[in-house]
Parts: sequence; structure tokens; C-alpha cells
Amino acid sequence: MLHVTRNPVAAAHLVAVQLDELLAQVAAPVLLLPTGSTPQPLYALLRARFAAGTLHMAHCQTFNLDEYWPCRADSPLSFRHFMENELFQHSDLPPAAIAFLDGTVSTDEIASHCLAYEQAMVAAGGVDWCLLGIGVNGHIAFNEPGTAANSVTRLVQLAASTRQRPGFPQGNDAPKAGLTVGIQTIMSAKKIIVMACGIEKAESVRRALEEPRSIHTPASLLRAHSNVIWVLDEAAATALQNGGRTLS
Ligand code: GLP
Repeated sequence: MLHVTRNPVAAAHLVAVQLDELLAQVAAPVLLLPTGSTPQPLYALLRARFAAGTLHMAHCQTFNLDEYWPCRADSPLSFRHFMENELFQHSDLPPAAIAFLDGTVSTDEIASHCLAYEQAMVAAGGVDWCLLGIGVNGHIAFNEPGTAANSVTRLVQLAASTRQRPGFPQGNDAPKAGLTVGIQTIMSAKKIIVMACGIEKAESVRRALEEPRSIHTPASLLRAHSNVIWVLDEAAATALQNGGRTLS
């Protein structure tokens, strides 16, 4: 299903309604969450609702899609730091309900850490709701073009196009690698919601939705899932046939 909304704030409102449905329908929801600029309006909306006492997520379990490696959780660069500021510290999520990839694991520990992360999702009952952004190169989480469809949580090198994006940390400390869930991990979620906003996402959205499915556009692989909702703003939909309105 495809929704084209007026702007990023409208997209956030639409996703918040989807979240409300999840919270009403599932007793102990398991969420897999993204970082990046795309979900920021949604997280702002959720923060306001936590502050107003109209949102309760104490019964949820969250995982996040990815983390830089090597990277300490308390580094201002880390995705954990981003999530603490954007959502967790403003929420009623108990610390024990927040699972995160650890950017400080040693090379020797990576395989077991990634396997344990996969197993924790399964032990929690599986991911009910995976929220995704999309990279300008069509990546999802840190699954860069060329990633196998059966990929699971692992260490990856970041694509040059990802590292050159405005806002990506630069300089000597610039991350070159990350720990990320795989495409198979994402496809195992019961429901997937993909958000894309802004003209810079229009071409990757078009390739994801209108070109043949290919590992060269990881987001296109999502079309093999039976329960995916795309939430775009008008700018991100501009390269689609009829601005996306023929698709639904
Ligand atoms: C990053 C993250 C992705 C995110 C994407 C888009 O590299 N690993 O999870 O969806 O890039 O980021 P943004 O929303 O800032 O455009």
C-alpha cells in the first residue's frame, strides 16, 4: 500500500496512526526502529504525546536497525545517542525494553553479538512492526546495494554514497562501518512501514517501487513482503508514475 502525504509532518501523523493501531491490537508489541532525519518528525510527535500523557509504550520492546562500528553508545555520533535524545529519554519505555546493537564489541565478538541480537528478536516473539527510512542509494538500514536477500545481522562497510551524504559525520572519526540487521531480518517483521520524504529520495523510491526487484536497490526487495506500507511526502513521490497516485 502506498500513501502520498503533503509533507514530512503529515507523513509522521500517518505513521503515528499506524502505531496507535499496533498498540491497540498487540498486547506486547515488538518494534524495530530507524534513525536518520526521516523519522525525526514522527519522534517529535511521539515526544509531545508522551509529555501530554497520551502515549504509553511501557509494554513494548524495541530494537534498532543499526549502529556505527566501532562506536561507543555515549558518543554523540552514535545511533543510540540519537535515539535517547529523540525518543527513549522522553518515553515510558523501561531500559530493559530497549535492545541495541553494541558498537563497542571487539572483532572477535561481532558474530556472537549479531547472532544474539537475532535470537533476542525471535525470543521476544518476532518483530511486529519495522519502521524504515531509505537511503539515496536505495539502502535499508545499512544494507547497501548488492546485499543478499538472505542477509541477517552482521558487520558491513558503508557505501561511499552513504558516507558522502549531507549530515554524515566527517573527519578522522567518520564511521566507515556499521552493525546492521539484514534484509532477511527486516523481511521477517509482520508489518513494515517505509517512510521517505524529500526530493533527494525520489529516484530511490522510484527504483524501489517501479523497477524490477533487485539487490542493487535493497528497498525494492521489500515488495516481496505481503504487509508493507509506503508513506511518502509529495516530493519523494515526484518520480513515480502520476506522482504515485496509480499505486495504492
Ligand atoms: C542511514 C540509516 C538508515 C536510514 C537512511 C536514511 O544510513 N542507516 O537506517 O534510513 O540512512 O537516512 P535519512 O532519513 O537521514 O535520509
